Amino acid sequence: MILAANFKMNHTRASTREYLEKLEEHESGGVELYVFPPATALQAHSGKVRVGAQNAYAAVHGSFTGEIGLQQLQEFGINTLILGHSERRHIFGESQELIAKKFAFYKEQGFRIFYCVGETSKERDKGSEAIHRAIEAQLVGVDLEYEKLIVAYEPVWAIGTGKSATPEDITEVLAFLRSKTSAPLLYGGSVKPANIQEILHIEQCDGALIGTASWDITTMQEMIDLAKEI
Ligand code: PGA
Repeated sequence: MILAANFKMNHTRASTREYLEKLEEHESGGVELYVFPPATALQAHSGKVRVGAQNAYAAVHGSFTGEIGLQQLQEFGINTLILGHSERRHIFGESQELIAKKFAFYKEQGFRIFYCVGETSKERDKGSEAIHRAIEAQLVGVDLEYEKLIVAYEPVWAIGTGKSATPEDITEVLAFLRSKTSAPLLYGGSVKPANIQEILHIEQCDGALIGTASWDITTMQEMIDLAKEI
């Protein structure tokens, strides 16, 4: 079981350190834990929790204003990365071509990649074929056999809205993804203590990528305890 905390643009370096310390102290059973702080809070960390980056450019270093690359990640021993998050795609306009380029670069570097896909509400309204088409388009240029790949299904309309997809919706899309890859499959989108067990019980669901509910350490610890019972 994998639980990953995506801090997005929340927490500072100091509060991330405190959070990681508390997470290390918490009994996690067999649950694998990942924390993705903002770039300024990336830090060397040893322990059971793995720290990863939310985004990085496909270069070692260079003239890419506002970006971080391999050199900046290596300073802290970071080798885990989220790619293709819907906020990167929709708010910052990342194209599939750019995301695939990042994927190829960090795959070459042996990074563990949390790769996100998910349909918009418009696509969902059109039915399951449109959903599959949308997801397929987000997999173009991605090596689905990469051994360090983890795929997160995150419907755009469920992210940060408090409105999670139903177990039926999730089951259907995870089965579709399973037909394409043997990578661990996560669900993300308004996961919280009230729904995490139901979600983790879904066949083919190997864990959750959690935004909002992960930012508070007590809530995160609560979700770890609930995951341990599965
Ligand atoms: P949320 O975010 O839990 O706040 O919906 C999930 C994500 O974007 O990974």
